[in-house]
Amino acid sequence: MLIAIDGPAGAGKSTVARAVARALGFAHLDSGAMYRCVALLSLDSPGTAPGTLAQAASIEFGFGGDKGRVVLDGRDVTAEIRAPEVSEAASRVAADPRVREAMVARQRELVAVGDWVAEGRDVGTVVAPDAEVKVFLTASPQERARRRAGELGADPDTVLAEQTLRDERDIGREHSPLAPASDAVMLDTTGLTVDEVVGHIAALAAGHHTSSRA
Ligand code: C5P
Repeated sequence: MLIAIDGPAGAGKSTVARAVARALGFAHLDSGAMYRCVALLSLDSPGTAPGTLAQAASIEFGFGGDKGRVVLDGRDVTAEIRAPEVSEAASRVAADPRVREAMVARQRELVAVGDWVAEGRDVGTVVAPDAEVKVFLTASPQERARRRAGELGADPDTVLAEQTLRDERDIGREHSPLAPASDAVMLDTTGLTVDEVVGHIAALAAGHHTSSRA
């Protein structure tokens, strides 16, 4: 089974996707981390086309004891890819169709076998339109900025300004713009606890116990 969780920055996707994966014993794919890796490479090599960097990059996710670790070309970049300048660069490289093509191909390979909770912007629309469960998580811009600022220890107004820019880029881009799939369940997490959101998604998954996937 595949549970696709899409939505804008700061809607709670990562926290929720990780918790749903843990609750159901599914693997977790953070597709945003892949775009962040390409962004990091592009910041390090500004002269090389992001698409070229994306095609050559080795991006590995830790499972088991290394769960949650992200390894890029043999280097642990788990913390580095969360820096604000990487977030900004990620939303820029993610608009490049060659970058998207390379990342989507790898994401499809990963989720082809087994049970997954995959989070991002285009999982339910492009990566896996056949996902059994599709959720589009939202929250008010102020609430999203407040959460992100809390995580980063940053100023909420600065986070809100950066978030608005990223949202506009994600929604306005030509290739795979951020939009809910027509069959996605819309879930506004403003004022909900993580447990409430996780319970809701687990209930949607329980309604799909017949899995057509390997
Ligand atoms: O989810 P996260 O904030 O880590 O994603 C970083 C950036 O990667 C987003 O701002 C977005 O531009 C891009 N992204 C995307 N498609 C995905 C996941 C992330 O375009 N499936």
